[in-house]
Amino acid sequence: MAVSVSTGAALFAGSPRSRACVARPAHEVRPPLVSPLKWAGGKRRLVEPYLRPLWQGHEHRVLVEPFVGAMSVALGLRPERALLNDVNPHVVNFLRELKRGLKITIPLLYDHDYYYAARERFNDLIARGEFRGSEAAQLFYLLNRTGFNGLCRFSGRTPQRFNVPFGRHKTVNFQEDFARYRAAMKGWRLSNRDFEHLEVGEDAFVYADPPYDGAFTAYSGQSFDWDDQVRLAEWLASRRCPVVASNHATLRIKRLYRKLGFRIREISVARSISCTGGREAAREIIAVKGFGR
Ligand SMILES: C[S@@+](CC[C@H](N)C(=O)[O-])C[C@H]1O[C@@H](n2cnc3c(N)ncnc32)[C@H](O)[C@@H]1O
Repeated sequence: MAVSVSTGAALFAGSPRSRACVARPAHEVRPPLVSPLKWAGGKRRLVEPYLRPLWQGHEHRVLVEPFVGAMSVALGLRPERALLNDVNPHVVNFLRELKRGLKITIPLLYDHDYYYAARERFNDLIARGEFRGSEAAQLFYLLNRTGFNGLCRFSGRTPQRFNVPFGRHKTVNFQEDFARYRAAMKGWRLSNRDFEHLEVGEDAFVYADPPYDGAFTAYSGQSFDWDDQVRLAEWLASRRCPVVASNHATLRIKRLYRKLGFRIREISVARSISCTGGREAAREIIAVKGFGR
């Protein structure tokens, strides 16, 4: 039987040979899907070089993503079972509708005036507390594809207002058929809460991709400050399963994770969206714990 075994994970994950017996046969690996959303800090580029080698041999586990964003990692790894969470209710509503088999019934147009009309309608739904369901998900998709750099930013006032301006893009591609996502998400659960309220069993494999230390954090109108970084690192360190976390390679982040017993690898990554909307190379870390030596 052909077995897919990683070598790239050796730095972190112990001997690949020792885990080969539980690795998924190569012919069973499901093809990666690309998220329909653009997302600040999306991690699609980390999947093949860094995350898949760590995931190999753990495919029987529940992939838990406390900070799922646009779901790029889950769609890349294609686990059978997953618990995907984000504190942003709008992205979670979109993902829930995707799982239900989202049907597009509004015109998908890339047009300045149409964008602002759609934004107004989306904000009306929020103001009326009707931001769950298919219409809000479709508007969210349209705003994400045609707004400035796929940002998801809200004013601080209550009710929150989505305030991202129209984006200037050379081309905009819309998807209208989301059937393959529905099939891929069959065994996945979605949740919308602060990460600390997630129940994580010993059969989990956690990948945590929080807002980065010192970076843009207004994904949901809530900030993620240093106290949250410490709260997260301590919460992750006390999970009784394999844990992988990514973050900015700041000195204090490296110290924090090392102190809590994580092994750290520093990598250089081209960011997909920065707070200024630009593309830039950045030093990041991948911290791991619970893989054995
Ligand atoms: C870097 S993004 C994750 C990107 C994701 N890995 C991807 O590839 O699309 C961080 C996410 O954390 C979410 N977030 C921020 N604070 C949170 C909290 N306290 N609990 C759960 N999620 C939170 C944000 O809404 C945002 O979607």
